[in-house]
Amino acid sequence: MELFDVYPLYDITPVKGEGSYVFDESGKKYLDLYGGHAVISVGHAHPKYVNAIKDQVSRLGFYSNSIKNPLQKKLADKLEEISGVEDYSLFLCSSGAEANENALKVASFHTGKDRVIYFENAFHGRTSGVVAITDNDAIKAPFNLGHKSTKLTFDDTESLKKEIEKGDVAAVIFEVIQGVGGLDEASSGFYKTAADLCKENNVMLITDEVQSGYGRTGDFFAFQKHGIRPDIITMAKGMGNGFPIGGILIDNTIQPKYGMLGTTFGGNHLACAASISVLEVIKEENLMNNVVEVSDFVKEEATKIPEIKKIKGRGLMIGLEFDFEIAALRKELLFNHHIFTGAASNKKLLRILPPLNIKKEEFKIFFEALKKVLKD
Ligand SMILES: Cc1ncc(COP(=O)(O)O)c(C=O)c1O
Repeated sequence: MELFDVYPLYDITPVKGEGSYVFDESGKKYLDLYGGHAVISVGHAHPKYVNAIKDQVSRLGFYSNSIKNPLQKKLADKLEEISGVEDYSLFLCSSGAEANENALKVASFHTGKDRVIYFENAFHGRTSGVVAITDNDAIKAPFNLGHKSTKLTFDDTESLKKEIEKGDVAAVIFEVIQGVGGLDEASSGFYKTAADLCKENNVMLITDEVQSGYGRTGDFFAFQKHGIRPDIITMAKGMGNGFPIGGILIDNTIQPKYGMLGTTFGGNHLACAASISVLEVIKEENLMNNVVEVSDFVKEEATKIPEIKKIKGRGLMIGLEFDFEIAALRKELLFNHHIFTGAASNKKLLRILPPLNIKKEEFKIFFEALKKVLKD
């Protein structure tokens, strides 16, 4: 049987990972500055993470959400402790799109309204409700077009106010730092006004931290820099270091009721064990500090390269914008220098999304390679 062919593939087959490196079948070593799309948080095959999963699966890998699972509460408590966000409740699912779908559902249930405001260049996932609020018509099927949604310009407070005051808006959703869209971040003033407008008009403010959360920006969540309090926070990628898990944090003023949300796989024992070990490693190894230190180094080195016109993003969610389209550069880095990097919808932007415990030395390898490619 053939696989349904929806992904353009690089001719590389990683079979093993260790820290910030992956290895192909022939043993060739690749530096991973992409983290499998911002997923690898504590590094490939981190021993604590591997042992947590091994230990859990040897006892109980899965049971349904109809029984007590203390690992879910342990995960919620650790998340509260390490993220520093308080007075939220946790609902667990299995992916970023699912987290955002659930957030929209909660917002609509809670407000009784049905329209969602999203922003230019947003990416919130590929399932029905969230692809409707993703700014990419090419990935929307006719079936996805039935949702009530309005796209606005990021950082435009006036049009946001006008739309919200129409009275039918259930939620405003944004990535505090846009990922796929190209690492744009609006001003603190915009985020604060959005939060105030939402509060005044019974609209739920949802921050999509699927990519920017879990320490990637040097703060646990990217919104924390801007002094706002979202009603709902969504998360996924770094949460399981590759084990599929997502979740939403819901403000405690929003009342749950049976049947409102549900999932078979979300919050299963194995996913919780993986995710708890990720939080422990983030704390024990002080990874948010490492993110800031390494990020400062990368930004400093990047300013020395004249072909880099702009440095975007925060922490280890970095975009290097060149004065040319970077598809060929990425290929050279990958095939000639064995370095994985990411792309964005802005074709001149190279995205850097490595494991959070990457070292400066590993970025020195990247900059040497980059200089060579640019010289040739
Ligand atoms: C900000 C953001 N939200 C949501 C998603 C969707 O996550 P998933 O692919 O796990 O469904 C992504 C994936 O890239 C993302 O970057």
